[in-house]
Amino acid sequence: GGTPEIRKGLAGVVVDTTAISKVDPASNSLLYRGYPVQELAARCGLEEVAHLLWHGELPTPGELDDLRERERSHRALSPAVRAVVDAIPTTAHPMDVVRTAVSVMGAHDPAAEDPSREATLDASLRMLAQIPAVVAYDQRRRRGQDLVEPREDLDLAANLLWTTFGEEPAEVVQDAFRTSLVLYAEHSFNASTFTARVVTSTLADVYSAVVAAIGALKGPLHGGANEAVMRLFDEIGDASRADAWLERALAEKRTIMGFGHRVYKNGDSRVPTMKAALDRLVDHYGRHDLLALYDALEQAMAARKPIRPNLDYPSGPAYHLMGFDTATFTPLFVVARVTGWTAHVMEQRAANALIRPLSHYDGPGERHLA
Ligand code: CMC
Repeated sequence: GGTPEIRKGLAGVVVDTTAISKVDPASNSLLYRGYPVQELAARCGLEEVAHLLWHGELPTPGELDDLRERERSHRALSPAVRAVVDAIPTTAHPMDVVRTAVSVMGAHDPAAEDPSREATLDASLRMLAQIPAVVAYDQRRRRGQDLVEPREDLDLAANLLWTTFGEEPAEVVQDAFRTSLVLYAEHSFNASTFTARVVTSTLADVYSAVVAAIGALKGPLHGGANEAVMRLFDEIGDASRADAWLERALAEKRTIMGFGHRVYKNGDSRVPTMKAALDRLVDHYGRHDLLALYDALEQAMAARKPIRPNLDYPSGPAYHLMGFDTATFTPLFVVARVTGWTAHVMEQRAANALIRPLSHYDGPGERHLA
């Protein structure tokens, strides 16, 4: 008898093997298929990283051309998806719009139920191309602006900025955005990826797995943290107030968004790369006030707790400087992470076992209707 050992939140539980990425908190490193994420962020776009995650190797020049051509051919917002987006009130969170849009994409894909690797790769590429169209259009319609048609001469990152803002962004902005997408692309068995694998383990289709993963990503303990960080910055307002604000927030036992991580207890391996990109954006936009607030809150936290910033801490203010609405930040995370999710869907299928753990019952003992 007795209570079996329960690891709340599956903390520290190894549930399967994966060849897609390796998170090593001891060496503070993150490898995608063996490549350090910092190297990929410096040299590659999301397209190359998608190929790497899906196929295990970086694309040859010919494979990259092919992937780019196919990605560009699916970029225009589909009329079916647009009609559904238009029907969603702007009071809805943009993550609800992306979640619904992916569901509609699945409903319109005649091959959605085809579990072959070819069909799943095709569906993954469609989502990689269409999700940015949804995110860009949704922010525009909320601002009362018209849809901007995609441009074939731009890569995925630059085209997303173009279709969101209707202007060609400066090189430094494109680079910072590309970097954020590469850093967000994959991170082993995080909550949303695990969700995608649970759904896949029942032999459901890839769109169902991605819809469920978007739901898991939305929460502020996971992807929603990049939005929540910006809301904290707005609440604090100014660097001079950061220390007193944090003192009080911790006394009230608040969770400080953008800090802490389940796996990294000594700093997030992705932060230095994104922080460097943020620094360049701060110079470009002349917003040293924002950097001062960033530093002040980080220092105030370091003085009190051994809890370090995670990737969402620099990416939130970076997306703000680029001009994205705060509620659009987590959808940008979806744009990138759909590559990792779909790679995990394919890996799960290749060696599937239904994911179905046990629970220890602690409700009332057996009783009977009177
Ligand atoms: N603010 C205040 N206290 C914190 C925080 C935080 N951000 N993070 C951890 N702690 C405390 C926690 O309350 C616990 O205190 P105590 O021992 O007194 O109960 C202690 O630090 C140890 O934390 P833990 O319970 O072992 O942490 P966890 O592994 O369960 O939680 C986390 C990880 C990410 C859920 C948590 O750090 C958190 O809520 N952070 C804020 C949300 C956030 O930024 N999430 C994004 C994660 S990055 C990846 C992504 O974007 O998905």
